[in-house]
Amino acid sequence: MQPKLIIHGGAGSSLKGKGGVDAVRRSLHQIIEEVYPLLLSGGSAKDAVVLGCKLLEDNPRFNAGTGSVLQSDGQIRMSAALMDGMSQSFSGVINISRVKNPIELAQYLQNSSDRVLSDYGATELARELQIPSYNGLTDLRLNEWILERQDNFQRSMAGVVAEPELAETSDRRGTIGVVALDTEGNLVVGTSTGGKGFERIGRVSDSAMPAGNYATKYAAVSCTGIGEDIIDECLAARVVVRVTDGMSLEAAMQKTFDEATKNQRDLGAIALSGDGAIAWGKTCQVLLAAYHDGNRISDTLELSEKAQIGVAA
Ligand code: GLY
Repeated sequence: MQPKLIIHGGAGSSLKGKGGVDAVRRSLHQIIEEVYPLLLSGGSAKDAVVLGCKLLEDNPRFNAGTGSVLQSDGQIRMSAALMDGMSQSFSGVINISRVKNPIELAQYLQNSSDRVLSDYGATELARELQIPSYNGLTDLRLNEWILERQDNFQRSMAGVVAEPELAETSDRRGTIGVVALDTEGNLVVGTSTGGKGFERIGRVSDSAMPAGNYATKYAAVSCTGIGEDIIDECLAARVVVRVTDGMSLEAAMQKTFDEATKNQRDLGAIALSGDGAIAWGKTCQVLLAAYHDGNRISDTLELSEKAQIGVAA
């Protein structure tokens, strides 16, 4: 099979400033250029997804791993999940601190009998695996938090893209995600996030739930946006179940995003189907996604703000 790959670095209101668009595009395209060859050379979708998530987590521009937003108490707590469509197994960590790549723990948990761990248990596992302690705090995120603190945390969401010129103008929804289809026809999806930013301690993100990250052998979806909206729509699982029941990916995305729009949700998603269709959707103005369709790299950065869903064959 011809491998396919789609990644996202969040969604939100319009990317103001050309410099911002160019920088985000460069980051996303570089990651596609690094991950797609692994799929082409016969690497597994799972390895490609974990590598893609790690590269996105390591890029301080995006809200996951290094560059994660801070919660109301000024701490970083991250969540990540991995789902293998063929074995239909979901694994993840919720609200973990002081690790560089939460997706690595989700990967480890794929083969465990306890597959979703939260804060204390996830940290214990990191210690058992001798994963070094790591602080993903960046000056930009700290300054963002200090400004919000001065304003008594009036914003509902932190900036998804850590760009000084963008943070001022944007109210974005951060998370990263990768969906891959390998030469064997296996679909895998991974999602990782620092959360909404400024949230209450203990708030749980959609990213480590089937609402935000879900796959079968027929389709796989990673979501971004306001976690509560994604959970209320059960977005990823909703699209995947529709495709699994026989709908085309395009029709499933259209129906699901029509419903989400009607319900005034604020979210976005990327998707692949087992037959190689690539799709994305958004109810907000912009989705930071890029993909490789087997022939070339494209992205969704300059889509019309009104566009709701899109597909690539
Ligand atoms: N979608 C990320 C979050 O709301 O936590």
